[in-house]
Amino acid sequence: MCGIVGYVGRADAAPILLDGLRRLEYRGYDSAGVAIVDGDHVEIRKCAGRIASLAKLVSENPAPGLFGVSHTRWATHGKVNDENAHPHFDASGKIALVHNGVIENYQALKEQLIQNGDTNFRSDTDTEVLAHLIGNIYRQFDGKDSKARLVNAVRAALKRVIGTYGIALVHADIANFMVGARRGSPLVLGVGKDENFLASDVSAIVAHTRDAIYLNDFDVVAVERDKFEISSLDGVSGQHPVSKVEFSAEDIKKGDYPHYMLKEIFEQPDSVRDAMRGRLTYEECTAKLGGLNMTPAELRDVARIVLTGCGTALHAAMVGEYLIEQLANIPTEVEFASEFRHRNTPMTPDTLVFAISQSGETADTLGALRESRRKGYRTLGICNNVASTIARESDGGVYMHAGPEIGVAATKSFTSQLVILTLIGLLLGRMRNLSTAQGSRIITGLEALPEQIEEVLKLSDRIKAIVKKYADVSGMLFFGRQFNYPIALEGALKMKEITYLFAEGHPSAELKHGIIALVRPDLPSVFIAPDDTVFSKNVNNIEQVKARKGPIIAITSGNGAKQLKGLVNEIIEIPAVLDPVSPALTVIPLQLFAYHLAVELGRDVDKPRNLAKSVTVE
Ligand code: AGP
Repeated sequence: MCGIVGYVGRADAAPILLDGLRRLEYRGYDSAGVAIVDGDHVEIRKCAGRIASLAKLVSENPAPGLFGVSHTRWATHGKVNDENAHPHFDASGKIALVHNGVIENYQALKEQLIQNGDTNFRSDTDTEVLAHLIGNIYRQFDGKDSKARLVNAVRAALKRVIGTYGIALVHADIANFMVGARRGSPLVLGVGKDENFLASDVSAIVAHTRDAIYLNDFDVVAVERDKFEISSLDGVSGQHPVSKVEFSAEDIKKGDYPHYMLKEIFEQPDSVRDAMRGRLTYEECTAKLGGLNMTPAELRDVARIVLTGCGTALHAAMVGEYLIEQLANIPTEVEFASEFRHRNTPMTPDTLVFAISQSGETADTLGALRESRRKGYRTLGICNNVASTIARESDGGVYMHAGPEIGVAATKSFTSQLVILTLIGLLLGRMRNLSTAQGSRIITGLEALPEQIEEVLKLSDRIKAIVKKYADVSGMLFFGRQFNYPIALEGALKMKEITYLFAEGHPSAELKHGIIALVRPDLPSVFIAPDDTVFSKNVNNIEQVKARKGPIIAITSGNGAKQLKGLVNEIIEIPAVLDPVSPALTVIPLQLFAYHLAVELGRDVDKPRNLAKSVTVE
């Protein structure tokens, strides 16, 4: 959470920083600010609210200059107000700092600073304490080379910090120079021609350069227009490879879509294709996943699997459990990443762990990955962001290739995760007892998916019409069985996230064990009931809701529509689909449902309240 952008070059810094912040707004949007060095002083403009408010502030009161740092905030310490917005000054007002992360020992550091007479704190943030600490140390250090002095002060301050940080800072007396550092929060250096950039994510800078260096934890980087130097906290210089960013500035534009979320929902035929591209082998009826870095014998010897992630990625993991157990008969456990790290999950030596994360930066998932690797388990990543920390720290894995996902509500990354988990199930199954005929059926099912998704997307207007009838409901219940139980959870999560309505997902049969008490006319039940092996069981539960006068919306396929006619209020009919691949199809109407309802209710679809796309704090 929080996005930072820094620039040093020959162009006016403000528009570049503001444009970069707009691209990072998905990371947090409580407040925003820029600090630009103008001659011998730093000009700060900052305010609570969105980048649009900051841009207005800057246009009313321009901040000229050729280098500076900027920030869009998702509050962790201190409430959302102008004072707590970044950048923060040190006590001298010469250093301006932006920060993404949490300084856990900021109270202790603040007390020490206050004891030393540094009392001029203006905010409640942990970040301001770090700015003061750096300034305090800088003033104590001698040396004519002010650049080296500032870098050394940053190093010395960060050695005293407990917590996580991605930072960028400038000093009023040091022209055309900025310093960045990271630990636990992402930071990338964009290498341009006579200009260089720092950013939390390449999307902020890809309009200017596609050459990027992904910094590692404990890296400190000194950045000038035409050069940069990366070193460790101990001052040891290091070489890092320059990577080419895979996508362009065009890829992160909304195009004709009113929201990124809708664009990303409609991109799913392609993203699903890209998730399986080159990964199916027709001769052997299996999947080919070279990135796992495992030999056939190692794959065959996997005795247990743990799938971990958060939010939507966790729901994909839950589908993965059904998939892997059904296709490969390997006991599979799903662990909340946030719980895994702090409990003692029984593991056998031949357990394989998958950390699933679109961003590859989620702190809880990263924590689970590190804990699993620390204990010596082979830990693989399923990530979308190729250069992310999870992708880099895992022993191998599978990339989603879904392209940038900007909408806070995850959509296309979810269906890509489902495809990849099906490929993993197929591969492991074919190393065991899954026959060529069964493998071939899965491949056929997967290959049909993109066109079937296109069919479902044609239902968007119909779903919009249905939504209008239910715009004043008090909430919604979601039910599904087997592969589609996690889809009920995902449907409810999408609904909660962007409509702010109460929503819950459950296995259909759980209704009668308590949830049925909630059933009432203003609380519709959405049943995910494709024409599969458990369809008739779902019908039983639908009857139970109907008997209690609860409105019912059903997502079904095949003969399901005929059977449900007269029993439910609304039928959303999707193409007939193979059971194990059905979640990637049944979830699409639920994404559209949440989207259209959120628009109907006037919600900020791409930036729902209190949320951020990438949750880099615990
Ligand atoms: C999904 O709509 C959410 N925004 C959220 O639950 C998300 O899936 C979760 O934070 C995990 O993110 P990741 O995939 O980037 O790790």
